[in-house]
Amino acid sequence: MIALGCDHGGYALMQEVIAYLEKKQIPYQNFGTFSEESVDYPQYGKAVAHAVADGSCEKGILICGTGIGISITANKVKGIRAALCHDVFSAKATRQHNDANILAMGGRVIGPGHALEVVEAFLETPFSNEERHIRRIAQIEEER
Ligand code: RB5
Repeated sequence: MIALGCDHGGYALMQEVIAYLEKKQIPYQNFGTFSEESVDYPQYGKAVAHAVADGSCEKGILICGTGIGISITANKVKGIRAALCHDVFSAKATRQHNDANILAMGGRVIGPGHALEVVEAFLETPFSNEERHIRRIAQIEEER
């Protein structure tokens, strides 16, 4: 199950992500927002981060205008590693190296064609499970 959250700045791109997930028959839970009316992104960042942190969703996708505010918010939640990615290389690398559990993007930064390639890379790339990456992730988590 993929947890989805966006603000008004990410709403249009999120509709593309939802269409992609439906086409691929990937289950998702949409935490909103549900229109382009102006809202506060932390509310949606927190909802998705908690769904991933408590295990009810395996991964999350968050979109605001830049992807910055919503990823900063999500990364405040223990156990969350939200990665702001606007390219396929970073999306693959953050799965392999950081075991990132939330992908963040900016709806005003990236076009839908490229964004869906980033989503695909994020969802399909497994964690490397290499000892050095496990060790480094454990060091991140010590901070909380
Ligand atoms: C909303 O205007 C904008 O600030 C928000 O979508 C995001 O870019 C914040 O980081």
